[in-house]
Amino acid sequence: MIYARVAGTGSYLPGNPVTNDDLVARGIDTSDEWIVERTGIRSRYLAAPDVTSSQLAYEASVRAIEAAGCRPDDIDLIIVATSTPDFIFPSTATLLQARLGITNGSPAFDLQAVCAGFAYAISTAEKFIRSGGTRRALVVGAEVFSRILDWNDRGTCVLFGDGAGAVVLEASDAPGILASAIHADGRHNPILCVPGQVSRGEVIGDPFLRMDGQAVFKFAVKVLADVAREVPELGGVSLDQVDWLIPPQANTRIIQATGKRLGPSMDKVIATVSRHGNTSAASIPLALDEAVRDGRIQRGQKVILEGIGGGFAWGATLLQF
Ligand code: ACO
Repeated sequence: MIYARVAGTGSYLPGNPVTNDDLVARGIDTSDEWIVERTGIRSRYLAAPDVTSSQLAYEASVRAIEAAGCRPDDIDLIIVATSTPDFIFPSTATLLQARLGITNGSPAFDLQAVCAGFAYAISTAEKFIRSGGTRRALVVGAEVFSRILDWNDRGTCVLFGDGAGAVVLEASDAPGILASAIHADGRHNPILCVPGQVSRGEVIGDPFLRMDGQAVFKFAVKVLADVAREVPELGGVSLDQVDWLIPPQANTRIIQATGKRLGPSMDKVIATVSRHGNTSAASIPLALDEAVRDGRIQRGQKVILEGIGGGFAWGATLLQF
């Protein structure tokens, strides 16, 4: 049996933290009190105007490759989950491949599932490894969400941040990913979307993130609890045997409500949203890397990663670290 095992993790946050009070100072009609009470967010990182997703992805990837103890050219698959690519094309994954100096001709592609992007990407990479054709996959979530925020819409602009996280998955006889589940229900796409595009050199429609926050909240809590129960079942372990849950880092209240549905066995939750805001596809690997590097997640422990985003798309992975 070939497993896909996490060999190394890395992450990167651009610049300095931007606090809620900094947003108020920039003229946004909000307050630290409102943001903390409704979301738990205290600060986020915002990339400088010339910094792109592929640059953030590069910094996170270098750290993950170093932690995995391999060289860039040992990577034979790159998947970048992003909704804020550098360009319409080429893909951010091929830009990353070039920045890393990888010239071995291995595949590189982007995956678009918004905040569920990393859950989709790690599940996809696992299938490449299990099928025997891929030895080492670099799976990245990278976002500059600040570029698609309407800074006049206080209901959304305070929620998100920029960053990247990366994982090197390698083929192994020892257990790694034990189960994955990914889902989508396109009927819900109007409640969270960026309903615009570039056509004939012009922006058509609305190029900013729009969200019905309460509808997203209700939907997210239900399916995140369902999928966090589904993957242990698929992996043949009980929820009690899971050491850590890394939920999507969207809102402390969503994390708490999901934890409550799962019961006291899931009190070991890794949360970074208060310091990072919601970095969409980057949020899960950012949280994973932080908890690996600070020693909370130990080799042999079982971890559930889960994500949900526009579409709606959602998914989870159970892995033995
Ligand atoms: N500062 C101050 N007041 C604000 C702000 C703000 N930043 N934003 C909205 N308000 C005001 C509104 O104008 C409204 O005022 P009114 O009552 O006078 O009309 C009031 O606060 C309540 O607004 P609601 O939108 O009803 O607030 P709610 O309690 O629903 O909280 C929030 C909004 C935080 C967005 C919440 O709905 C939520 O967390 N939803 C989940 C969405 C989410 O996390 N999405 C992330 C992307 S998807 C994912 O990753 C899952």
